[in-house]
Amino acid sequence: MKDVYILGIETSCDETSISIVKNGETDIATSILTQINTHASFGGVVPEIASRLHSENITLVLEDLLNKTDLTINDIDAIAVTYAPGLLGSLLVGLEFAKTLSLVYKKPLIKVHHIAGHIYANNLEKKLDFPLLALIVSGGHSELVLMKKDYDFEVLGKTLDDAVGEVYDKVAKVLDLPYPGGPNIEKYALKGKNTYSLPKSVLNDELNFSFSGLKSAVINLVHNEKQKKKEINKYNLAASFQEVAIEQLVRKTKIAIMKTNVKRLIIAGGVSANQYLRKEMEKLAKEYNIKLSVPSMKYCTDNATMIAAAAYPLYLKKEFSELNINAKSTDKLFEEKIN
Ligand code: KG4
Ligand code: ZN
Repeated sequence: MKDVYILGIETSCDETSISIVKNGETDIATSILTQINTHASFGGVVPEIASRLHSENITLVLEDLLNKTDLTINDIDAIAVTYAPGLLGSLLVGLEFAKTLSLVYKKPLIKVHHIAGHIYANNLEKKLDFPLLALIVSGGHSELVLMKKDYDFEVLGKTLDDAVGEVYDKVAKVLDLPYPGGPNIEKYALKGKNTYSLPKSVLNDELNFSFSGLKSAVINLVHNEKQKKKEINKYNLAASFQEVAIEQLVRKTKIAIMKTNVKRLIIAGGVSANQYLRKEMEKLAKEYNIKLSVPSMKYCTDNATMIAAAAYPLYLKKEFSELNINAKSTDKLFEEKIN
Protein backbone atom coordinates (compact mmCIF):
# COMPACT_ATOMS: atom_id res chain seq x y z
CA MET A 1 0.00 0.00 0.00
CA LYS A 2 1.13 3.52 -0.79
CA ASP A 3 2.43 5.55 2.15
CA VAL A 4 -0.05 8.07 3.55
CA TYR A 5 1.19 11.51 4.61
CA ILE A 6 -1.18 13.51 6.81
CA LEU A 7 -0.63 17.13 7.74
CA GLY A 8 -2.04 17.79 11.23
CA ILE A 9 -2.96 21.13 12.80
CA GLU A 10 -3.51 21.78 16.52
CA THR A 11 -4.55 25.12 18.02
CA SER A 12 -7.01 24.12 20.75
CA CYS A 13 -5.24 25.89 23.63
CA ASP A 14 -1.93 27.69 23.82
CA GLU A 15 0.25 25.77 21.37
CA THR A 16 0.25 26.50 17.64
CA SER A 17 1.45 23.29 16.04
CA ILE A 18 1.60 21.72 12.57
CA SER A 19 3.07 18.33 11.75
CA ILE A 20 3.41 15.77 8.99
CA VAL A 21 3.04 12.11 9.98
CA LYS A 22 3.53 9.06 7.75
CA ASN A 23 1.05 6.18 8.11
CA GLY A 24 -0.10 7.38 11.51
CA GLU A 25 3.15 6.33 13.15
CA THR A 26 6.21 8.19 11.85
CA ASP A 27 6.81 11.83 12.69
CA ILE A 28 8.24 13.31 9.49
CA ALA A 29 8.39 16.88 10.78
CA THR A 30 6.74 18.85 13.56
CA SER A 31 6.68 22.52 14.41
CA ILE A 32 5.33 23.78 17.75
CA LEU A 33 5.16 27.35 18.95
CA THR A 34 4.12 27.62 22.57
CA GLN A 35 2.50 30.70 24.09
CA ILE A 36 3.26 29.59 27.67
CA ASN A 37 5.50 32.57 28.51
CA THR A 38 2.83 35.07 27.45
CA HIS A 39 0.06 33.40 29.45
CA ALA A 40 2.27 32.69 32.49
CA SER A 41 2.34 36.40 33.30
CA PHE A 42 -1.47 36.27 33.65
CA GLY A 43 -1.45 33.08 35.75
CA GLY A 44 -3.34 31.09 33.08
CA VAL A 45 -4.40 31.03 29.44
CA VAL A 46 -6.16 34.21 28.31
CA PRO A 47 -8.47 33.02 25.50
CA GLU A 48 -8.52 36.28 23.54
CA ILE A 49 -4.73 36.52 23.53
CA ALA A 50 -4.41 32.83 22.62
CA SER A 51 -6.51 33.14 19.47
CA ARG A 52 -4.74 36.33 18.37
CA LEU A 53 -1.35 34.66 18.77
CA HIS A 54 -2.52 31.58 16.82
CA SER A 55 -3.67 33.90 14.06
CA GLU A 56 -0.36 35.80 14.03
CA ASN A 57 1.77 32.69 14.06
CA ILE A 58 0.05 29.86 12.22
CA THR A 59 1.42 30.72 8.77
CA LEU A 60 4.92 31.06 10.21
CA VAL A 61 4.56 27.67 11.88
CA LEU A 62 3.64 26.11 8.50
CA GLU A 63 6.62 27.82 6.90
CA ASP A 64 8.90 26.51 9.66
CA LEU A 65 7.49 22.99 9.22
CA LEU A 66 8.02 23.00 5.46
CA ASN A 67 11.62 24.15 6.01
CA LYS A 68 12.18 21.00 8.06
CA THR A 69 11.26 18.53 5.30
CA ASP A 70 11.69 17.94 1.59
CA LEU A 71 7.98 17.24 1.30
CA THR A 72 5.66 19.89 -0.08
CA ILE A 73 1.92 20.32 0.36
CA ASN A 74 1.49 18.42 -2.92
CA ASP A 75 2.86 15.28 -1.23
CA ILE A 76 0.20 15.46 1.49
CA ASP A 77 -2.77 13.05 1.31
CA ALA A 78 -5.07 14.77 3.82
CA ILE A 79 -5.32 17.74 6.17
CA ALA A 80 -6.26 16.88 9.77
CA VAL A 81 -7.28 19.41 12.38
CA THR A 82 -8.44 19.53 16.00
CA TYR A 83 -12.07 20.69 15.95
CA ALA A 84 -12.91 20.08 19.67
CA PRO A 85 -12.67 20.44 22.60
CA GLY A 86 -10.81 23.62 23.49
CA LEU A 87 -10.98 27.39 23.38
CA LEU A 88 -13.40 28.27 20.62
CA GLY A 89 -11.48 31.24 19.20
CA SER A 90 -8.26 29.24 19.19
CA LEU A 91 -9.84 26.18 17.57
CA LEU A 92 -11.37 28.36 14.85
CA VAL A 93 -7.98 29.69 13.75
CA GLY A 94 -6.67 26.17 13.12
CA LEU A 95 -9.92 24.99 11.58
CA GLU A 96 -10.15 27.85 9.07
CA PHE A 97 -6.49 27.41 8.17
CA ALA A 98 -7.08 23.68 7.60
CA LYS A 99 -10.18 24.30 5.47
CA THR A 100 -8.30 26.79 3.32
CA LEU A 101 -5.43 24.34 2.72
CA SER A 102 -7.96 21.60 1.98
CA LEU A 103 -9.83 23.76 -0.54
CA VAL A 104 -6.84 25.29 -2.30
CA TYR A 105 -4.79 22.09 -2.54
CA LYS A 106 -7.78 19.78 -3.04
CA LYS A 107 -6.95 17.52 -0.09
CA PRO A 108 -9.56 15.77 2.05
CA LEU A 109 -10.22 17.36 5.44
CA ILE A 110 -10.30 15.19 8.58
CA LYS A 111 -11.64 16.52 11.87
CA VAL A 112 -9.95 15.07 14.94
CA HIS A 113 -11.05 15.12 18.58
CA HIS A 114 -8.26 16.43 20.80
CA ILE A 115 -8.45 13.49 23.22
CA ALA A 116 -8.24 11.00 20.33
CA GLY A 117 -5.02 12.85 19.53
CA HIS A 118 -3.68 12.24 23.04
CA ILE A 119 -4.59 8.54 22.78
CA TYR A 120 -2.99 8.09 19.34
CA ALA A 121 0.17 9.89 20.51
CA ASN A 122 1.01 6.40 21.78
CA ASN A 123 0.98 5.09 18.21
CA LEU A 124 4.02 7.26 17.52
CA GLU A 125 5.92 5.17 20.09
CA LYS A 126 4.61 1.71 19.48
CA LYS A 127 1.76 0.60 17.27
CA LEU A 128 -1.44 0.29 19.29
CA ASP A 129 -2.53 -3.32 19.59
CA PHE A 130 -5.99 -4.18 20.79
CA PRO A 131 -7.64 -4.81 23.16
CA LEU A 132 -6.03 -2.18 25.33
CA LEU A 133 -6.81 -0.21 28.41
CA ALA A 134 -6.28 3.56 28.21
CA LEU A 135 -5.90 5.80 31.23
CA ILE A 136 -6.76 9.29 30.00
CA VAL A 137 -5.51 12.03 32.29
CA SER A 138 -5.60 15.65 31.21
CA GLY A 139 -6.88 19.06 32.24
CA GLY A 140 -10.44 18.07 31.32
CA HIS A 141 -10.42 14.26 31.46
CA SER A 142 -9.82 11.40 33.88
CA GLU A 143 -11.11 8.19 32.35
CA LEU A 144 -10.40 4.51 32.07
CA VAL A 145 -11.34 3.35 28.60
CA LEU A 146 -11.29 -0.10 27.01
CA MET A 147 -10.47 -0.06 23.29
CA LYS A 148 -11.13 -3.24 21.33
CA LYS A 149 -10.28 -1.63 18.01
CA ASP A 150 -9.51 1.77 16.49
CA TYR A 151 -11.93 4.48 17.61
CA ASP A 152 -13.89 2.06 19.73
CA PHE A 153 -14.13 3.46 23.26
CA GLU A 154 -15.85 1.71 26.13
CA VAL A 155 -15.74 3.90 29.23
CA LEU A 156 -15.12 1.75 32.29
CA GLY A 157 -14.72 4.61 34.71
CA LYS A 158 -14.54 8.38 34.81
CA THR A 159 -14.21 11.18 37.28
CA LEU A 160 -17.43 12.12 39.02
CA ASP A 161 -16.16 15.64 39.68
CA ASP A 162 -12.83 17.24 38.75
CA ALA A 163 -10.26 15.99 36.27
CA VAL A 164 -6.88 15.17 37.79
CA GLY A 165 -5.00 17.79 35.69
CA GLU A 166 -7.49 20.44 36.74
CA VAL A 167 -6.82 19.59 40.39
CA TYR A 168 -3.04 19.79 39.84
CA ASP A 169 -3.64 23.28 38.42
CA LYS A 170 -5.90 24.36 41.31
CA VAL A 171 -3.45 23.10 43.93
CA ALA A 172 -0.63 24.94 42.16
CA LYS A 173 -2.69 28.12 42.24
CA VAL A 174 -3.44 27.89 45.96
CA LEU A 175 0.28 27.36 46.56
CA ASP A 176 1.06 30.42 44.39
CA LEU A 177 3.09 28.34 41.94
CA PRO A 178 3.31 29.71 38.40
CA TYR A 179 1.31 28.51 35.40
CA PRO A 180 1.36 25.75 34.13
CA GLY A 181 0.48 24.18 37.47
CA GLY A 182 0.98 20.45 36.84
CA PRO A 183 4.68 20.47 35.96
CA ASN A 184 5.41 22.89 38.82
CA ILE A 185 3.67 20.71 41.40
CA GLU A 186 5.77 17.83 40.10
CA LYS A 187 8.98 19.86 40.49
CA TYR A 188 8.08 20.89 44.04
CA ALA A 189 7.04 17.34 44.95
CA LEU A 190 10.48 16.09 43.93
CA LYS A 191 12.00 18.20 46.69
CA GLY A 192 9.42 17.30 49.32
CA LYS A 193 8.09 14.42 51.42
CA ASN A 194 4.60 13.12 52.08
CA THR A 195 4.14 14.72 55.50
CA TYR A 196 0.63 16.16 55.27
CA SER A 197 -2.22 13.80 55.85
CA LEU A 198 -4.72 14.18 52.99
CA PRO A 199 -7.85 12.11 52.37
CA LYS A 200 -7.81 9.22 49.93
CA SER A 201 -10.92 8.89 47.79
CA VAL A 202 -13.18 6.34 49.43
CA LEU A 203 -15.62 6.08 46.57
CA ASN A 204 -17.43 2.75 46.75
CA ASP A 205 -17.85 2.96 43.06
CA GLU A 206 -15.12 0.66 41.80
CA LEU A 207 -13.83 2.27 38.66
CA ASN A 208 -14.92 5.90 38.90
CA PHE A 209 -12.63 8.62 40.17
CA SER A 210 -13.19 11.53 42.51
CA PHE A 211 -10.68 14.30 43.08
CA SER A 212 -12.77 17.11 44.54
CA GLY A 213 -12.38 15.93 48.16
CA LEU A 214 -8.61 15.95 47.80
CA LYS A 215 -8.71 19.38 46.16
CA SER A 216 -10.87 20.85 48.93
CA ALA A 217 -8.68 19.29 51.61
CA VAL A 218 -5.58 21.00 50.18
CA ILE A 219 -7.36 24.35 49.79
CA ASN A 220 -8.77 24.19 53.35
CA LEU A 221 -5.42 23.18 54.79
CA VAL A 222 -3.68 26.14 53.14
CA HIS A 223 -6.36 28.58 54.28
CA ASN A 224 -6.33 27.26 57.85
CA GLU A 225 -2.56 27.44 58.10
CA LYS A 226 -2.62 30.97 56.68
CA GLN A 227 -5.21 32.02 59.27
CA LYS A 228 -3.04 30.62 62.01
CA LYS A 229 -0.13 32.50 60.40
CA LYS A 230 1.71 29.21 60.05
CA GLU A 231 4.14 28.58 57.21
CA ILE A 232 3.16 25.96 54.62
CA ASN A 233 5.92 23.71 53.38
CA LYS A 234 5.02 23.86 49.68
CA TYR A 235 7.42 21.07 48.76
CA ASN A 236 5.92 18.67 51.28
CA LEU A 237 2.35 19.64 50.45
CA ALA A 238 3.02 19.16 46.72
CA ALA A 239 4.52 15.72 47.46
CA SER A 240 1.64 14.75 49.77
CA PHE A 241 -0.97 15.84 47.23
CA GLN A 242 0.75 14.09 44.34
CA GLU A 243 1.05 10.79 46.19
CA VAL A 244 -2.65 10.70 47.05
CA ALA A 245 -3.77 11.80 43.57
CA ILE A 246 -1.63 9.27 41.73
CA GLU A 247 -2.42 6.48 44.20
CA GLN A 248 -6.06 6.77 43.14
CA LEU A 249 -5.17 6.59 39.43
CA VAL A 250 -3.05 3.51 40.04
CA ARG A 251 -5.61 1.82 42.30
CA LYS A 252 -8.45 2.20 39.79
CA THR A 253 -6.28 1.15 36.85
CA LYS A 254 -5.35 -1.98 38.79
CA ILE A 255 -9.03 -2.88 39.24
CA ALA A 256 -9.65 -2.30 35.52
CA ILE A 257 -6.74 -4.57 34.62
CA MET A 258 -8.09 -7.34 36.85
CA LYS A 259 -11.62 -6.93 35.48
CA THR A 260 -10.74 -6.83 31.79
CA ASN A 261 -7.66 -9.03 31.80
CA VAL A 262 -6.13 -6.91 29.04
CA LYS A 263 -2.43 -7.21 28.40
CA ARG A 264 -1.80 -3.72 27.13
CA LEU A 265 -2.04 -0.39 28.95
CA ILE A 266 -1.50 3.11 27.61
CA ILE A 267 -1.54 6.51 29.29
CA ALA A 268 -2.75 9.59 27.44
CA GLY A 269 -3.13 13.32 28.11
CA GLY A 270 -1.04 16.08 29.62
CA VAL A 271 -0.68 14.43 33.05
CA SER A 272 1.04 11.45 31.36
CA ALA A 273 4.14 13.69 31.35
CA ASN A 274 4.32 13.18 35.13
CA GLN A 275 7.34 11.04 36.03
CA TYR A 276 5.88 9.82 39.31
CA LEU A 277 2.74 8.58 37.52
CA ARG A 278 4.89 6.90 34.86
CA LYS A 279 7.00 5.11 37.51
CA GLU A 280 3.96 3.94 39.47
CA MET A 281 2.33 2.67 36.27
CA GLU A 282 5.54 0.84 35.33
CA LYS A 283 5.42 -0.95 38.68
CA LEU A 284 1.79 -1.89 38.11
CA ALA A 285 2.48 -3.16 34.61
CA LYS A 286 5.33 -5.27 35.93
CA GLU A 287 3.19 -6.71 38.70
CA TYR A 288 0.49 -7.81 36.24
CA ASN A 289 2.86 -8.67 33.41
CA ILE A 290 1.25 -6.30 30.95
CA LYS A 291 2.80 -4.09 28.31
CA LEU A 292 2.73 -0.41 29.17
CA SER A 293 3.29 2.35 26.69
CA VAL A 294 3.47 6.02 27.42
CA PRO A 295 3.84 8.82 24.89
CA SER A 296 7.34 10.22 24.55
CA MET A 297 7.62 13.43 26.58
CA LYS A 298 7.41 15.68 23.53
CA TYR A 299 4.02 14.16 22.60
CA CYS A 300 2.47 14.34 26.10
CA THR A 301 1.53 18.00 25.96
CA ASP A 302 -0.40 19.48 23.06
CA ASN A 303 1.09 18.98 19.60
CA ALA A 304 -0.09 18.41 16.04
CA THR A 305 1.86 15.18 15.60
CA MET A 306 -0.71 13.33 17.69
CA ILE A 307 -3.53 14.91 15.66
CA ALA A 308 -2.05 13.69 12.38
CA ALA A 309 -1.49 10.24 13.95
CA ALA A 310 -5.11 10.08 15.17
CA ALA A 311 -6.37 11.04 11.71
CA TYR A 312 -4.81 8.00 10.03
CA PRO A 313 -7.48 5.41 11.00
CA LEU A 314 -10.12 7.95 9.91
CA TYR A 315 -8.30 8.39 6.58
CA LEU A 316 -8.34 4.64 6.03
CA LYS A 317 -12.10 4.62 6.69
CA LYS A 318 -12.49 7.67 4.42
CA GLU A 319 -14.14 9.61 7.23
CA PHE A 320 -13.69 13.00 5.64
CA SER A 321 -15.34 16.26 6.71
CA GLU A 322 -17.24 18.88 4.78
CA LEU A 323 -15.75 22.35 4.47
CA ASN A 324 -18.52 23.87 6.58
CA ILE A 325 -17.70 22.01 9.81
CA ASN A 326 -17.50 24.12 12.92
CA ALA A 327 -15.30 24.13 16.00
CA LYS A 328 -16.80 23.03 19.32
CA SER A 329 -15.57 24.07 22.73
CA THR A 330 -16.93 20.80 24.12
CA ASP A 331 -17.71 17.59 22.32
CA LYS A 332 -17.70 14.00 23.47
CA LEU A 333 -15.30 11.53 21.95
CA PHE A 334 -17.23 8.72 23.60
CA GLU A 335 -20.44 8.35 25.51
CA GLU A 336 -19.69 8.57 29.20
CA LYS A 337 -22.19 5.90 30.07
CA ILE A 338 -20.79 3.42 32.53
CA ASN A 339 -21.89 -0.14 32.03
O1 KG4 B 1 -3.77 17.19 27.78
P1 KG4 B 1 -3.42 18.56 28.16
O2 KG4 B 1 -2.25 19.19 27.50
O3 KG4 B 1 -4.63 19.53 27.98
C1 KG4 B 1 -5.89 19.08 27.92
O4 KG4 B 1 -6.21 18.57 26.84
O5 KG4 B 1 -6.57 19.19 28.96
O6 KG4 B 1 -3.22 18.52 29.70
C2 KG4 B 1 -2.97 19.66 30.44
C3 KG4 B 1 -2.99 19.25 31.88
C4 KG4 B 1 -2.89 20.43 32.80
O7 KG4 B 1 -3.84 20.29 33.81
C5 KG4 B 1 -1.48 20.31 33.32
O8 KG4 B 1 -1.31 20.86 34.60
C6 KG4 B 1 -1.29 18.82 33.33
O9 KG4 B 1 -1.90 18.38 32.15
N1 KG4 B 1 0.13 18.44 33.32
C7 KG4 B 1 0.74 17.80 34.33
C8 KG4 B 1 2.09 17.67 33.97
N2 KG4 B 1 2.27 18.23 32.73
C9 KG4 B 1 1.05 18.70 32.36
N3 KG4 B 1 0.25 17.33 35.49
C10 KG4 B 1 1.12 16.72 36.32
N4 KG4 B 1 2.42 16.56 36.04
C11 KG4 B 1 2.96 17.02 34.89
N5 KG4 B 1 4.26 16.86 34.64
ZN1 ZN C 1 -4.34 18.30 25.44
